[in-house]
Amino acid sequence: DMDDAKALSLEKEATPGTTVKGVTTAEAFIASLKRPRCIMMLVPAGKPVDSVIEEFLPLLGEGDILIDGGNSHYTDTIRRIHDLEDKHIHFMGMGVSGGEKGARTGPSIMPGGDVDAWKAVQPMLEAVAAKVQGVPCVAYMGKGAAGHYVKMVHNGIEYAIMQMISETYLIMHKGLGLDNDQLNEVYSKWNQEELESYLVEITARIFKRRDDKTGGRLIDMILDEAGAKGTGKWTSQDAMDQHYAIPVIDIAVSMRDLSEYKSERELAEGVYGDPDKHIDAPTEKVIAELKNALLVGSIICYAQGMSMLRKASADLNMDIPLAEVVKIWRGGCIIRSVMLDKFYDIYLKSPELPNLLLDEAVAQMIKGAEASMRRGIARAVEAGYPVSGLNAALGYFDSYRRGHLPINLI
Ligand code: 6PG
Repeated sequence: DMDDAKALSLEKEATPGTTVKGVTTAEAFIASLKRPRCIMMLVPAGKPVDSVIEEFLPLLGEGDILIDGGNSHYTDTIRRIHDLEDKHIHFMGMGVSGGEKGARTGPSIMPGGDVDAWKAVQPMLEAVAAKVQGVPCVAYMGKGAAGHYVKMVHNGIEYAIMQMISETYLIMHKGLGLDNDQLNEVYSKWNQEELESYLVEITARIFKRRDDKTGGRLIDMILDEAGAKGTGKWTSQDAMDQHYAIPVIDIAVSMRDLSEYKSERELAEGVYGDPDKHIDAPTEKVIAELKNALLVGSIICYAQGMSMLRKASADLNMDIPLAEVVKIWRGGCIIRSVMLDKFYDIYLKSPELPNLLLDEAVAQMIKGAEASMRRGIARAVEAGYPVSGLNAALGYFDSYRRGHLPINLI
């Protein structure tokens, strides 16, 4: 940090017994490292990454490793790899997931690129990564920009699952009249069953969180407009460019965009009337249907993301090991869930599986929940609740499971 005081305060904040050194110039920083140097950047994607590279470059030497741990677009990473290759500096694109908590307690780490560079940093990354049954959540993701590609798709899946969770929240809150405490109970229970995952866990928790200013619940103070840093959009853009079908992720991106038309939505509510209809059915039954919808929907989101990775791996010559991807997503990252344990076994057994929906164990899970999902979605649609994400998941399933589509007519 260019500010002395901040560098000093970072040193002071370090956990006792550990060594953290704050520096204020690029020269002092680079000079403090042993050669070959190994530097990890965590700066916002885009221009800031190029600026840091520019600043460091004259100070670096042959064999040094520069790691970009931010959410960079994979095409930028490919460009940077080539630019630095000529200077004999290894540039590694590396996805990191886990947010601020992951930074302290162990994230999931997705490195790709030069194999020798990976081997040089492997012991350090394994030491800091999250662990699942002692297994570190870091592995080599493949050639070129594979690390950032895998992280991009991870975020696409994240957008899609968050969208579907929000749909179940709306229906239970407005359609069934559940209050924040009851919602906390429902999601906490789901988090102890097949849906056990970080996103369901933090969803349960948010309903209990108090707002400091009003003393009410924080969730009720948050405006229903979501921005986005862009990784979900990139996933969809790339999927469209390459002809990969990932409709739930596409919808999740569009729904965030639609959320920003708040004033137009309010006008439309004036035109079409109050959209919050009570759902006249036993509460427990509807909750079970929504749980099954979210379960099948989540499986389908992972299936779409993994199928995209499989296709992109071949098209971009990345050699992404799918089993390793789901292995390191089992802990530390935002989309970690118990479901990934099953998917790991599946990819170990069938590394070339084109789509998770083709696996027998996955089919059993879907068949067990499908009818209930349909009833839940039908009920929501009939009452006028938007279920764009869940419906896109079901629509994908109903299309994918069909040997014949009406595209002959198109
Ligand atoms: C993570 C997250 C993190 C962040 C994304 C998405 O894996 O730790 O994916 O990278 O949540 O940047 O942010 P937006 O939802 O704001 O685009």
